[in-house]
Amino acid sequence: MQNKTFYIKTWGCQMNVYDSDKIKTLLLQHGYSAVEDEKTADVIVLNTCSIRENASEKLFSLLGRIKKTNPNAITIVAGCVAQVESKKITKNTIADIVVGTHMYHKIPQLIAELKEEKLVDIEFKPYEKFDSLPVDQESSTQTGYIAIQEGCNHFCTYCIVPFTRGREYSRPAEDIVAEAKHLISKGKKEIFLLGQNVNCYKTDNDDFADLLYKVAEIPGVERLRYMTSYPSDMTDRAIEAHKNIPNLMPYMHLPAQAGDSDVLKSMNREYTVEEYLEKIDLVYKARPDIAITSDFIVGFPGETEEQFQRTVELVKKVKYASCYSFKYSPRPGTPAEKMEQMPEEIKEKRLAILQATIKEYQQKFNNKFIGKTVHVLVEKVENGQLNGRGEHFQSVFANNEDKSLVGSIVAVKITSAGTNSLTGELV
Ligand code: 5AD
Ligand code: SF4
Repeated sequence: MQNKTFYIKTWGCQMNVYDSDKIKTLLLQHGYSAVEDEKTADVIVLNTCSIRENASEKLFSLLGRIKKTNPNAITIVAGCVAQVESKKITKNTIADIVVGTHMYHKIPQLIAELKEEKLVDIEFKPYEKFDSLPVDQESSTQTGYIAIQEGCNHFCTYCIVPFTRGREYSRPAEDIVAEAKHLISKGKKEIFLLGQNVNCYKTDNDDFADLLYKVAEIPGVERLRYMTSYPSDMTDRAIEAHKNIPNLMPYMHLPAQAGDSDVLKSMNREYTVEEYLEKIDLVYKARPDIAITSDFIVGFPGETEEQFQRTVELVKKVKYASCYSFKYSPRPGTPAEKMEQMPEEIKEKRLAILQATIKEYQQKFNNKFIGKTVHVLVEKVENGQLNGRGEHFQSVFANNEDKSLVGSIVAVKITSAGTNSLTGELV
């Protein structure tokens, strides 16, 4: 008998990419094979994101298309939209199974149990998920991704994550270390620790800094990275780790969200701009060349022109290596949704101004590398070009045809810099 096939579509953040990889591994282990097209798959998994609007509209329109092109497939909606909109999905679409962010490990079982009735499992049980999911990683990158915690207790007034991912849960350090060792034994060179708030990591025995030291000392971990951190939870010890741990890469994503303390208060961020800048100062003292990056939201309810200008000023002060920036998008059920909203044109104008400033500083940051040598973990060699990430996480290109370099760390002397990448020659 021919194997059953599956197709996975992923929207959203690195955590969703990670989750989809685990779902893929699980289905492969259960004898399914992967296809690249939803039209031919026996099982379709849609791993959704709800951080900003449009995500659920995209889901509903894709489900409408599947109804026409592949109505007999078993359709599974997973991820953040599944967690918060399960009723709407089962009532209005052809989806057969709705599975929440903590229940992916049950997908094969739910497929087996599926009869006439649609199935929904949106319980919050993070420990059960982490104990049951495979530790293997299907994606063929040189980086091993490990979720070390999930969920969030911060409740920023704009954010839906505490409702889609639940409260904070930190995995035992022994499990994380075992997973890292396993991934290294499978050939990964870099370990990337993931979570909504990695630096809030806390168990009975370990905090985030302890975990950094434990993972960094595993033989074979050539590079260690992590994302995302909450500014006021960044401890002195975690900052100092950037001075003390040679294989901890000089990169820190520390989302400020806004450059005005009153806006931060209204967002329920637990720090002022001054406190944020104090952290940045400590980070630069520990590792002067570090690449600091951030997320920003413009057009949050009530944001005045002066308050917005303070966000632009913050970008200039911190000299970010790069930033993501977004127009505020009201999320159902969050406190900011009920506040008075800004006109769309103002949001758009502010976003354009902020992005121009971010780009300018991104270019300035990258220009500093011209004439310097960076060390690149080679991801691919294609069309006569080698590509990978430097220590500071920039994408680096160099002319090269030698495919055997994939997976090794090579020295590249930088000859030119763009806003999004560096180019150089192998030395
Ligand atoms: N509107 C716009 N941006 C948002 N983010 C989170 N929620 C919203 C929202 N409602 C942004 C934040 C966060 C990033 C992952 O997405 O900047 O850090
Ligand atoms: Fe959302 Fe704030 Fe939690 Fe980040 S810290 S996931 S922005 S609620």
